[in-house]
Amino acid sequence: MKNDIPNHIAIIMDGNGRWATRQGLKRQEGHYAGYKRLKKTALYILDKGVKYLSVFAFSTENFKRSKEEVDYLMNLFIKAFKSDKNFFIKNDIKVVFSGRKEPLSDDVYNVMKEIEKSTENCKKGVFNVCLNYGGQAEIVDSTKKIVKLVQDGKLNIDDLNEENYYHYLYNDLPEVDLLIRTSGEVRISNFMLYSISYAEIYFTSTCFPDFDELEFDKALEDYQNRNITKGSVK
Ligand code: IPE
Ligand code: IPE
Ligand code: MG
Repeated sequence: MKNDIPNHIAIIMDGNGRWATRQGLKRQEGHYAGYKRLKKTALYILDKGVKYLSVFAFSTENFKRSKEEVDYLMNLFIKAFKSDKNFFIKNDIKVVFSGRKEPLSDDVYNVMKEIEKSTENCKKGVFNVCLNYGGQAEIVDSTKKIVKLVQDGKLNIDDLNEENYYHYLYNDLPEVDLLIRTSGEVRISNFMLYSISYAEIYFTSTCFPDFDELEFDKALEDYQNRNITKGSVK
């Protein structure tokens, strides 16, 4: 019997730069192509009945890239979140962000807050954009939140467990069922470390700008045919 459609899919959208340089384009053009691809593929995934889709858009480590590339990406985020607000509302998709505020500029942060607010009542699915995100940072930030709640008498430390720990992450989303990484890299790169504990992992050499509906269907088919035991017998 096939597995159900996964409830939560997470994608490490990698390979924009290589996709561009392989065809003599600038890395920036790869990021733009990745952005265009994301809109189509995300909608397709959520239309399939996946309830939660998390994507890695920019890691805390990505600030180490050239100023030119970081500036390009930040401007792309600003333009995209402004121009796509109605796209998300029309498609009934709730947008949330995971990551740290610092050192994002107010210009980026304000459009993020605006799109979160405008889509907060959307019901079809949740689109979690991980931006200035690091998995270890998320665990550290959750720990700080928890310590503060305990100190303020709002949480009894003995009530904390593996299931309710999710409440204290950047967003209270369920565990990830399927993690996809494009472009041939076989690493986690500090992504959603708490939530992927039992995720099935699918690696593809396809670069993200080419990760279309057909490529997603391959990943889904692979997942649905797996024998998922989560500690029980095969
Ligand atoms: C992923 O593509 C997008 C971001 C990290 C912002 P890359 O930019 O990492 O592309 P490659 O891995 O250099 O090809
Ligand atoms: C991971 O890709 C981050 C995003 C996809 C946004 P990177 O290209 O930054 O990861 P590494 O450096 O190959 O591990
Ligand atoms: Mg990369």
